[in-house]
Amino acid sequence: MSVRIVQLTDLHLYEQRDRVLAGVPTWETFDAVLEQVRERHADLDYLILTGDLAQDEAPQTYMMLREALGEWLPRCRIIPGNHDDPVQLRRLFPELFHDAADRLTFDLDTGGWTIIGLDSHVPGDVKGRVGAAQLEWVRALLAGEPDRPTLIFIHHPPVPLGVAWLDSLGLLAAQPLVSLIEGSPQVKLVCAGHVHQAWSGEIGSAAIQTTPSTCVQFGARAEKSFDRRAAGYRTITLEPDGRFETDVHRLPAAP
Ligand SMILES: [Fe+2]
Ligand SMILES: [Fe+2]
Repeated sequence: MSVRIVQLTDLHLYEQRDRVLAGVPTWETFDAVLEQVRERHADLDYLILTGDLAQDEAPQTYMMLREALGEWLPRCRIIPGNHDDPVQLRRLFPELFHDAADRLTFDLDTGGWTIIGLDSHVPGDVKGRVGAAQLEWVRALLAGEPDRPTLIFIHHPPVPLGVAWLDSLGLLAAQPLVSLIEGSPQVKLVCAGHVHQAWSGEIGSAAIQTTPSTCVQFGARAEKSFDRRAAGYRTITLEPDGRFETDVHRLPAAP
């Protein structure tokens, strides 16, 4: 059986449903994305939210997100971004973060694959960091299943995109994680957020893909810029033999 995943990232929601970020009403586009996912991908196995869920990091915003996810909650997995409050996330999604671990990570063993969610949140910083303890946890997971195809989610892309202003706000001390992925050929795919655009590259033999935000889209110029393309999300289908397919989907039009 293949595993069908939808990745939603960079929701940047507010407690006030009509607030806008860079001219985009973030609840309106998020609701439209959820509606499109319900129409087109209702059979999904996992809905993975890869951080920057609450621009205001307010408990009420996470409560509203919880309500919006509704019956999908058991199929959801969440990792934090820089615009998140890990304490509130843990408090308001207790069934998703059941262990006492310091970091908000997850790992799944499903359909012949290992799926890992990393926590790159650094309190008070836009940049990300994985840290030695989490790296050792991933290293042990990968070493324990060297032949099992693996998908890794992380908010901050571990390699530069070639978009200078975003690369300067990326993952700090990324090399140990990059080296671990390069040395672990079972890692087939890394999916990230944070950069609010679709981009693809490689880390060793693994593909890395970034995913459009469900709200504001950034441009690919060296200095900060915006892109008028509509909000979007990514689908990923994992086959038991290690192959995968992934696509970016967008709303019909930007608001
Ligand atoms: Fe973001
Ligand atoms: Fe971010």
